[in-house]
Amino acid sequence: MIIAVDGPAGAGKSTIAKLLAEKLGFLYVDTGAMYRALTLKADNQNMDFSDIPGLVKMAEKTKIVLEKNKKGKTIVFLDGFDVSDAIREPIITNAVYKLARLAEIRQIMVSWQRDYGKKHSIVMEGRDIGTVVFPKAEIKFYLDATAEIRAKRRMIELKEKEIDILLEELIKQIEERDHKDKTRKCGPLKIDDDAIYIDSSALDIPQVVDTMLNYLKDYNEK
Ligand code: CDP
Repeated sequence: MIIAVDGPAGAGKSTIAKLLAEKLGFLYVDTGAMYRALTLKADNQNMDFSDIPGLVKMAEKTKIVLEKNKKGKTIVFLDGFDVSDAIREPIITNAVYKLARLAEIRQIMVSWQRDYGKKHSIVMEGRDIGTVVFPKAEIKFYLDATAEIRAKRRMIELKEKEIDILLEELIKQIEERDHKDKTRKCGPLKIDDDAIYIDSSALDIPQVVDTMLNYLKDYNEK
């Protein structure tokens, strides 16, 4: 079974998709982490983001592995190195779009992502999971929240990492990233016709997970 969870930055996808996967005993796959890891590699190698053949060559020689550690945290390995923290740095967050907008790169990512669905039941989160990666996913959720709420949630995460940023600045950054995600030609973020739309602005994490589980129950009883 494939469950797709799409939506904009900070809507709570990671936390919720992970919890849902745990409850169902499914594998959780964070596709944003894959785009981030590849961006980190390109950045480390001082790649020119307009050199598409060079980036494709680099991607084809890259191994990204997502693994769960004993505490349940997803560890991201890039060519054998743990980059779980490095990929969350603001410099990477703000650079991912340069790779994510390239059709040639997305094609490679999509094929890696489809491989996960061949072997396991999965909860996969991202931007184009229901629309492109698994258009026939049994269940598709689109998780949303207002930009202000999403920025507030992101601010709490950044505070934990001792990164100080004004809320207004964060709202601006989130809206800019949403705009880039929604307007790119290839694999844009959009609400699929058959997706279940959940606005999490006024819901806490367990409430969203329960809402999803209820939809799943209905699906299984059909
Ligand atoms: O954690 P956050 O919601 O901020 O972002 P993420 O899920 O880690 O994804 C980082 C970036 O990767 C997004 O802004 C997208 O541009 C890109 N991405 C994508 O293009 N397609 C996906 N399936 C997942 C992420």
